[in-house]
This record gives sequence, structure tokens and C-alpha cells, in this order.
Amino acid sequence: MPTPRVALATCSVLPDLDPDDAPLVEALAERGVEATAAVWDDPDVDWTSFNLVVVRSTWDYSARQDEFISWARSVPRLANDAEVIAWNTDKYYLKTMGEMGVPIVRTLWLDPDRHLTSQAIHTRLPAHGDYVIKPTVSAGARDTARYQENTAQARGEAILHARELLRSGRHVMVQPYLNQVDVAGETALIFVDGEFSHAVRKSAMLSRGHRPTQGLYQEEVMRTVEATEAELALADRALEAARTVLGGAADQMLFARVDMLPGDDGEPILLELELTEPSLFFAKSPGALDRFADALVARVSAQG
Ligand SMILES: Nc1ncnc2c1ncn2[C@@H]1O[C@H](COP(=O)(O)OP(=O)(O)O)[C@@H](O)[C@H]1O
Ligand SMILES: [Mg+2]
Repeated sequence: MPTPRVALATCSVLPDLDPDDAPLVEALAERGVEATAAVWDDPDVDWTSFNLVVVRSTWDYSARQDEFISWARSVPRLANDAEVIAWNTDKYYLKTMGEMGVPIVRTLWLDPDRHLTSQAIHTRLPAHGDYVIKPTVSAGARDTARYQENTAQARGEAILHARELLRSGRHVMVQPYLNQVDVAGETALIFVDGEFSHAVRKSAMLSRGHRPTQGLYQEEVMRTVEATEAELALADRALEAARTVLGGAADQMLFARVDMLPGDDGEPILLELELTEPSLFFAKSPGALDRFADALVARVSAQG
């Protein structure tokens, strides 16, 4: 049998992968699989030539989601599945999950087709407490900002931010800033082939006065933690809801990352279910890289 080939899909800014994913190439080589980094929008890549294409650091698609989904649908053996990606790249999926009973952050959804005036945006922004404005299609905290309650300047900046996103045709989310994150941080639970693999925690990313990031992604400082019962239970509910919505497309989910923040009562709330291109923080947790590499090899072998 010829050496199986796996593509690790990335973006043109990171042609050699993110430093956390780079060791995958060697881990796969040790297992007899040739892994190559490939840029998702590079027209010269023959995606059909791989036994498996794994989406990794494709973090530049947020302003061209349609192009990204078309690409995903055109790749024959993609993990995760293109239909999972089509659903998961727009945070409206959170609305569905909230309606299914999964605790999500209270969210106001602004539709660009409503052509809201500044005054109309103003009346919709929360009257009390800090809040967050972000586009529904986003990665790496890009175009995401926190605004301080009740200062005229912050209000003006928030309206401008929302208006600019809406003007460029993007849907916008407005959420209360969950203050507990400043103390407890944000937790991510990582699943490989549906099995819990490891958990990491990062500190709050949106300090007061934080401005929307222009760069590709915002640097995150992570450490490994043990997931609590409540966090594991929330992750299970979120994944179960995703399986219900996605049906067959979810059966083959290679990876999932469930991001959660503590609510005011300390109970975890779903911030994001990352099924598209999450950092998986292999370096933070012993055995995590091996588990992922083994899962890839099992998939490639199953294809015969
Ligand atoms: N409602 C919120 N309260 C507190 N922090 C938030 C909130 N929403 C987003 N953040 C912070 O902003 C970061 C990016 O937001 P997120 O919803 O995860 O979008 P992205 O897809 O860009 O990662 C999060 O990791 C979190 O630290
Ligand atoms: Mg996130």
C-alpha cells in the first residue's frame, strides 16, 4: 500500500501551520503517514490527491465565509465534514442550541438587512453592565470588542463598531460581558472522535478599553486544567444538540472544542462550540498530540 497522505489545511499567513499543529507532521510520519501543510485557498493544491484533509489553522475566512464553505464542499475527504463547517462557521448555531435548552450567553442578534440607524442600535445596546460586540462569523476574537457601561464615549464607539459591521453586510451579536471570566477565565474542552481528550483554561481576553483586533488572531495564554463535572456535562449537552441538528454529518466528527465561560452564578455557559478550525492546544496536555495522530491514522486506515 502506498504511503497514505494527509493534508493539514491552513491559511496563507501560516503556510507552515500554527506552532501547536506543526509537531503533527512528525507524529504522523512516525506512524507511516505523510502529512503536508496546504493553504486552503491555494488554487494549485490538488485536494483529491489526499487520503484525508484535516482543517486546522484556516483563520482568514471570516470575511469570505461563502468561499470557504464552497471550498469545504469541494474537498472529497474532509474532517470535519463540509456540512458541519457550513453550520458551525456562523454563530447563529448558538441561537438554535439555546432554543434546544443548552445554556448560552444571552445574545441580541442584529441583522444587516434591517438597516438599523445609529439611534436604533443605541436603543438595543444594554443599559447596564459592560457588553461585547462581535460579528456572527468570526475567528480568533477578530472584530470583537468589549464596551464599558454607561460612558458616552464607549456608547458612541460601540454604535460605530456595530454599524460598520452591519454596513459590510455582517450579522452582529451583542452580549453582556460575563464578568466572572476576569476571575475564573475561559475553559475549553477538547474532544477527539467524540471522546473527551483534554481541557485548557485561558485568562480573559477582552480587557476594558480593548479595541477590535485587526490581526489574524489574538495571542492566547493557556494552561491545562482538569474539567469539572459541570463543564463535562455542558460539553455533552452541546455536542448532543449538535448531533441532533446535524444528523449524519456529525457522525464523523474528528474534533470538537467546547468553549465556556462562568455565568454570574459560577455555572458554565456555552460561549462557542468550535467544530471548524479550533486550536487544539496539544502542547498543553501530555498525550493529546498522540491521541489526535492516532485518530487520524485510524481514519486513513479505515478507508483501506
Ligand atoms: N460575552 C462575553 N463575555 C466575556 N468575554 C467574552 C464574551 N464574548 C467573547 N468574549 C471573549 O472574546 C473572545 C472571542 O469571542 P468568541 O465568541 O470566542 O469568538 P471567536 O470565534 O472570535 O473566538 C473569547 O475567547 C472571550 O475571551
Ligand atoms: Mg472563541
